[in-house]
Order: sequence, then C-alpha cells, then structure tokens
Amino acid sequence: MTKSWRDVNAIYQIYPRSFKDTNGDGVGDLRGIIEKIDYLKGEDKSLGVDVIWLSPIFSSPQIDCGYDISDYRSIDPLFGGMAMFDELLLQAHKRDLKVMLDLVPNHSSDQHAWFKESLSSRDNSKRDYYIWRDAKSDGTPPNNWLSMSGGSAWQWHDKTGQYYLHSFLPSQPDLNWDNPEVRQEIFEIMRFWFEKGVDGFRVDAIWPLSKNFAAGDNPRNPEYYAGDEDYGSYIHQNSKGGPKLCEYLRMMSDVALEYKNKFLVYEFYPDDRFGSRFDQYSAIQKIAPGVSSTFYFEAFQTEWWARKFQEKFNAFGTWYDQLPVASLGNHDQTRIASKFGMAQAKALALMQLSLPGIPAIYYGDELGMLDVDIPQNYKHDNFAGGAGMDARDKYRTPMRWNSDILNNAGFSNSNPWLPIGDNLDWLNVESEQNTDHSFFNLYKKMLTLRSEYVALRYGEYSTWQDISDDIMTFKRNYNDEIFYILINFTDRQINTNIPSRGRVVASTNTTDEYDIENSLMLNAFEAILVKAYQ
Ligand code: NOJ
Repeated sequence: MTKSWRDVNAIYQIYPRSFKDTNGDGVGDLRGIIEKIDYLKGEDKSLGVDVIWLSPIFSSPQIDCGYDISDYRSIDPLFGGMAMFDELLLQAHKRDLKVMLDLVPNHSSDQHAWFKESLSSRDNSKRDYYIWRDAKSDGTPPNNWLSMSGGSAWQWHDKTGQYYLHSFLPSQPDLNWDNPEVRQEIFEIMRFWFEKGVDGFRVDAIWPLSKNFAAGDNPRNPEYYAGDEDYGSYIHQNSKGGPKLCEYLRMMSDVALEYKNKFLVYEFYPDDRFGSRFDQYSAIQKIAPGVSSTFYFEAFQTEWWARKFQEKFNAFGTWYDQLPVASLGNHDQTRIASKFGMAQAKALALMQLSLPGIPAIYYGDELGMLDVDIPQNYKHDNFAGGAGMDARDKYRTPMRWNSDILNNAGFSNSNPWLPIGDNLDWLNVESEQNTDHSFFNLYKKMLTLRSEYVALRYGEYSTWQDISDDIMTFKRNYNDEIFYILINFTDRQINTNIPSRGRVVASTNTTDEYDIENSLMLNAFEAILVKAYQ
C-alpha cells in the first residue's frame, strides 16, 4: 500500500555525488543508490525512511554540482542515465519509498539549448526566456544587484550588446518567470517527471523567482563588513521575493494537484531585514498546505538556547496539520554536529523527529557526520568566491559505509571526489548499526516510532511549561495518544515535571525504556520522548 504524504515519517536527502560510487570514477551514481537501497528501507537493519530526495541528477556541466541544468528531461551519464533512474524508481516504489527530485526553476545552465538560442540574437524566440537589459549610459550594469555567489548579478554579452541576469554563478542565467512561456516549460517538466512516477520535488531557490525590477537598485546593507563588498554590501530587497512570488508558487502547486499524492518542498530562507521570519515562512507555507510546504530552516540558524528554540518551534507547531518540513541541515550548511556538538546534534535529532510534519534528514546526519577539512587540491565549490560565503565542499563529503579506509569507507574503490575525513573507526554505517547507543540507532528508533504513532506525525503541538532558558518541552497528541518531549540544552542535570505518568520510549542517553512518575531528571544535553499513560 502506498503511503499518503501525511503518513510518511521523513524525507532523506541524498547528495548523489557522495552516496555510493559503483563505476570507479570517485563520484557517486544511481547504481550506487540502488545497491544501498536496503540501507534506506526494506530490511530489519534499514534506517527506515519513507522518502528520498535526490539533489540534481539531470544533465549538467556540474559547475554548481548539478544545480546548473542543461537538460531538465535527461539524467546525466555521470549518474548512470535514464534507464538507471527508471530502475531506481522501480526499486524504491517496490519498498514504498517515495522519490523526490530537485527542481531548479530559477535558472538553467548556460549550456542549456534555450540559453544558447537566447544568446544568438536579440530577436531569437528564446531571447525572453532569460532576463536581458541594456547597460546604463556609462556602460555599467543596469542596477547594483549582487549575485548570491559573489559579484554583480549582471554579465555582459558582447555579441548582442546587453547584460543578462544571474542570481547565482554567471554560468547559471536566471529564467524569466514573468514570461508565461517559461512558466509553461517548467510546468511541463514537472508533468514529465510526475508522469514517470516521481512523487514530488524539492524546489530550489524560489525566492528570486519574482523580482521587483521597477524598484531598481537594492538598498545598501548598513551591516556589511570590509572585504565583503562583492557579497554583502547590498540587501536583496528588490532582486528577490518580488510581488508575484506567491502567485508563481501557487501555479506550481496547482500542477502537483493535477496528480494524486504529490508534494513540493520549497527552499526558502527568510531575511531578518524584511520583518518577522515566521511571517515570511508563513506566506509560503499557507499557499497550498498538504501539497506544498516551505522548509523550516530555523534549527541551524538559531543560537544554542532553549528559550530561542522553544519560541521558534512553538511557532512551527501551529502548522501541525499542514505537513511542514523541519530541517537540521542540507548540502549548503555546516553539519549540525559540527555546528553545535555531537551530544547536541543527537538531542536535536530527537527533537526534530518528534515535531509535526515531514522532517528532512541530510544523508550522514543519521551517523553524526561532521564537516571535513578540504585540502586545496580537492576544492570543488565555485561559490567560494564571495567573501560572505564559505566553500561548501566540507559538508558534502562521501557517505561512510564501513571503517575500511583502503576502500574509502566503502564509498568508492578509487580516489573519491572529496576526502572521507576522520574518526572512521566508529563513525560509519556498519559500526553504528552494531552499536546500541549510536546516532544511527537513535534515528532508526525515532523513525519507527514516527511511523507507528499518528500523534508524532500530525497530532497537535502544545506546551505545558513556561518558556525556560534551560529546557525545551512540547507535547504532541492525537486524541488520547500523548507524547511529551523534553530537551536539556545545558551541560547540567536538571529536574523537571511532566503532566502525567509515562514511559520513556526514546532517549539520547540510554536505549533502555523505563517508567517515570510526574517528575524526572534529565542528564546534560539529554533529550527524551515520553509516551503518556492514560
Ligand atoms: C540552492 C542550492 O541548494 C545550492 O546548492 C545552489 O548552489 C543554489 N541554490 C543555486 O542553485
């Protein structure tokens, strides 16, 4: 029986370049995902996730590791081509494992046939697929907009004598969403994959889909620091989040609604300078609840303080029945265990997997993977140019399947595209599957509980204590199925209370289950999940 989206326990993000290499080129491929599919779902030992999201696997020159697509309807030979994708989809669906692809609607690669045509002359039929503007009278770009990867967002094109806009790298020209033909092209691409059986999309970089050209230059950023002129000196006020954004997103969710049981997750980062972060998320979240959601990225953008986490997730909890998507990380962010520490990351995992909606897990976070130092000769990420942005390679390193360094942790039998990193003796799948108190076994247990109890998926979210500086607490319930979640943010033991007797069914400190009365003690950085006795 195919699960509906509200019954899935989590989305697991695979960065295909780093999951498993089977052809010996040092880069992961789809055959590798098929080989490892039982790790994800289907066997007793599996992690037990219900959805995989694959970062882009489409034809691409790989200047931005696949986020620069040259053909939206084909699978890059680097990953194994379309036949291999069909096989992966088949194998996934056999296990009732949903497959989400990464839709990149804001920009294509400059190698896309549309862009090649667009470049050929000002009156080419594809010219308006991209955003072209005249230079100012002194030859400089039409406005001061900066690219999110550093430098001006405008690139001069000699042959046709105009600038084109790129919100990211110059090799990622922005598609012109104000052109209805472009929108139809993207909707047709969505339909193409939906008809193949793909279950949903993670939608990349939605915030620049609509721009406010009429408003002109972006305002100066009063907080930018010296050396960051190329990246942070202006606020992206007019270059993203334009007036048509929600309308365009609604059109995408309408396409999803033409089919049964499809789902979209939008990549959206709010900006403090534009008012309440929550209101910004909400505007996206409420477009089509149950069919599309925004990612909620607050866990890795909040300081380590129970009070702050409580506030952020009390707000999130108001969406309890709208399938919101809370995330602890992705391929653009420092690993959560590197950001906050190992014990803290484990506590956040228990928190995340007790929250409403569909948690998104970044591959390797279920092992406690850490950022890896990248030697100069391995450097890959082309975004490293902007002073405000660090190269992202260090959190995209290969999955660690076993402790065999000669075999590159079971990832590849030849030199991997990025290094494996340290602590391989214990930080790998095989070791963690055989260690009771490992990260892996905590994730596995929490995913099992989420599958078992509706209260954890779409039950109400509420609180029973005043906001505290030290512990975060929340309650989940669906009718009389009740859970209490407590997370100690301090390195001290803390005594606290819950409203009723219950049984600790998961803890970051022990694999034992035990009964508790109304009062209990939490160890340093301990998180627990209590099932209430009725
Ligand atoms: C967001 C993606 O997550 C990131 O990896 C990429 O570089 C940019 N969008 C541009 O597509």
